[in-house]
Amino acid sequence: MTRENYLKIMAALGAGALLPQNLLAELLTGEEIKRSDFGKDFVWGTATAAYQIEGGWNEDGKSESNWDYFTHHKHKVKNHETGDVADDFYRRYESDIELMRKMNIPAYRFSTAWSRILPNGTGIVNQKGIDFYHRVIDKCLKENIEPWLTCYHWDMPQVLEAKGGWTNREMLKWFEEYVTVLAKNYGDKVKNWMVINEPLSFTLAGYLGGVNAPGTVSFKNFYSSIHHATMGQSIGGRAIRANVKNANIGTTFVAMPFDGWKNKPINNEVAKRADVIINRMFIEPVLGMGYPVKDLPALKHVVKHMKEDDEQKIKFDFDFIGIQNYTRMVMKSLALIPLIHGLPVNPKKVTTQDITQMGWEVYPEGIYRSIKQFAAYPGVKKIIITENGAGFDDVVINGEVHDSKRTQYIKDYLKQILLAKREGIDIGGYFIWSFMDNFEWAEGYRPQLGIVRVDYKTQERIIKDSGKWYSEFLSGK
Ligand code: NOJ
Repeated sequence: MTRENYLKIMAALGAGALLPQNLLAELLTGEEIKRSDFGKDFVWGTATAAYQIEGGWNEDGKSESNWDYFTHHKHKVKNHETGDVADDFYRRYESDIELMRKMNIPAYRFSTAWSRILPNGTGIVNQKGIDFYHRVIDKCLKENIEPWLTCYHWDMPQVLEAKGGWTNREMLKWFEEYVTVLAKNYGDKVKNWMVINEPLSFTLAGYLGGVNAPGTVSFKNFYSSIHHATMGQSIGGRAIRANVKNANIGTTFVAMPFDGWKNKPINNEVAKRADVIINRMFIEPVLGMGYPVKDLPALKHVVKHMKEDDEQKIKFDFDFIGIQNYTRMVMKSLALIPLIHGLPVNPKKVTTQDITQMGWEVYPEGIYRSIKQFAAYPGVKKIIITENGAGFDDVVINGEVHDSKRTQYIKDYLKQILLAKREGIDIGGYFIWSFMDNFEWAEGYRPQLGIVRVDYKTQERIIKDSGKWYSEFLSGK
């Protein structure tokens, strides 16, 4: 379909309505997407995070992180796996970044390990840790890859976690110091910054669910950590603004639509409550809207942690909002479940589409719906898809990985992003999670989300078919 015809149909149907969107998605299925469809300023990248790939857990003055401690002592991760070696990126960063260049990937989103930079959490800076990320950044720049730096992707020095981590209000000072060190050291070279990665994940899965570090099961911890992580987003944003000229500053959120099972009112209510927790709770205060207590009264336990001036300090004018979408969830009422009084329905009951290794329904329209939801906030200036991808069981045949499901997944999600973009939403970029297979937190190494396969015994990298497709797509052919 030509762009002109597309726009005519859009005009006739009225852009933005959900039904026309589905119709248009269908109309678009025959169209092969091209890089140029997204415009020349659109940023294309892949993403990773320090603990998931680096290894070198105690090298060159790095202290034990909360994830080192959690994997070494708590044994909650599948097969008791750890990030001690992971993808050995600490040693192999040069060849990995060269591989990115070979694959035509223009931007690389990575995170820094706080425990390499400030082994005691605060105070003495570890020059060897600082130097490592200088080498990573310099290598990116040399290969013409734009570095996108995430300050906090879930790992902190264990000395701070032992003091309560995000449940402790002191964290606001510790975090400000850490981000300031990053901004001062890398600000001349790195212009694109993300403050915190998915605050929902470490507060919910770490302090309440007990499956991520530090592994506590406590509502008290959950509520306090929510407030401090929300504040952390803005405090970090301000520290970068103050120290980096022309910085492009964002922070990233879990984003997924919720539906009620069989559209029953009682299930729709559960979906609404889940939406508050998953999608709204961390962004609304930053935008000056306060916590959505009206829609989920239990959030009064979070509000209780507000101190004088917090209402002002919690706000920050981000240049972009990173959204990370993989799936949607269909919710069913179950009164005894605290907080949202319901649970997700098994995706097998919901869809005939594939389900990924993470147990997530493949649901491309979800990314469109999430983009629309986040873009509807007047304070959101630009959206970047800072993560999207899929874990499927990969098989190596004659040194190749024919992961057609992953390639299809990426194409289908990109089409939905394009739909939202064509409706006029400012979407500035897309990062595949992940550049390479890596340590998938509580799930260990089984889920494979990379577009590059990693053999953990030999550390051999194989570009999967999805990676070859991405590289060809990026070459503009
Ligand atoms: C969210 C996280 O940011 C990332 O660390 C994780 O590996 C992916 N999504 C997949 O679960």
